[in-house]
Amino acid sequence: MEIKKVGVVGCGTMGAGITQVVAMSGYQVVTSEINDELLKKGLNSINAQLTKSVEKGKLSQADKDATMARIKGTTTTKDFGDCDLVIEAAVELMDLKKKIFADLDKSAPKHAILASNTSSLSVMDMATATSRLDKMLGIHFFNPVPVMKLVELIRTIATSDETFETGRRFAESVGKTVVVAKDAPGFIVNRLMVPQVLHAVRLLESGIASREDIDTAIQLGLNHPMGPLTLIDLVGLDVVYFIAQAMYEETKDPQYIIPNLMHKMFAARWLGRKTGKGFYDYK
Ligand code: CAA
Repeated sequence: MEIKKVGVVGCGTMGAGITQVVAMSGYQVVTSEINDELLKKGLNSINAQLTKSVEKGKLSQADKDATMARIKGTTTTKDFGDCDLVIEAAVELMDLKKKIFADLDKSAPKHAILASNTSSLSVMDMATATSRLDKMLGIHFFNPVPVMKLVELIRTIATSDETFETGRRFAESVGKTVVVAKDAPGFIVNRLMVPQVLHAVRLLESGIASREDIDTAIQLGLNHPMGPLTLIDLVGLDVVYFIAQAMYEETKDPQYIIPNLMHKMFAARWLGRKTGKGFYDYK
């Protein structure tokens, strides 16, 4: 099947990044948010990213304008009526995702593939909200989407070969390298990354080292681009929180237990860059 038009549900950090990358690759994109204010915020963030690229001389003004012109913002799922693929990028809450997929099953054309950008939840569980189990898969991007080269492709027991191969061609067509994982909690990357960042929080909590030294140790000792506490601030403490919660519920593996400090920061909305404060200050 040929993908021409792509829908993206959610224009937060991940949804906006996905919208940007997909539109830059030449696809028409419909991107939705729950209200006009969030939609405007998401579209403005895409515009600002593209403006930076123009200022750096990495993108022509004409290409920026053409990219923005390929993006249509909406607050109604009716506008997904002519999409060939719709990617859901909402918060990591199963009930919410199931509701979105039940709506998409009605509004997207019968031939359309439905995908979730979930970081940790079962794609099969989401698929049960639809009447097209064979046309569901996971297409998991990484933050910041325009920079990170990886996509995890998640195949459920019901995903058809055609859906899977179309998903793979699509991910490659937007410039990503594909790795394949079964529909198991955290797939590959989060299965390895989440325990590490939670351990970093426990190290801080127990007073073994300062936040700066934990981050510097991992950055310089393991050559990671950023330390684990800075990474939580980038991804969003709430995002890591929901992923860890879901992974613990699914596996009951104690390495996914959320440390106390994270519960407190979550309650205080110290969520990282997006709220101006996390492990570090961003004001
Ligand atoms: N959006 C778009 N582009 C961005 C960006 C953003 N949010 N942040 C940085 N960039 C771009 C910059 O514009 C710059 O582009 P150019 O080279 O074209 O100028 C480039 O990235 C490098 O940025 P900087 O020079 O400002 O900073 P840096 O070299 O420290 O890189 C970083 C920043 C790319 C974020 C890098 O620190 C990094 O790779 N960090 C690790 C990110 C990571 O691990 N992400 C995965 C998180 S886990 C996840 O996403 C999965 C999940 O399910 C939660």
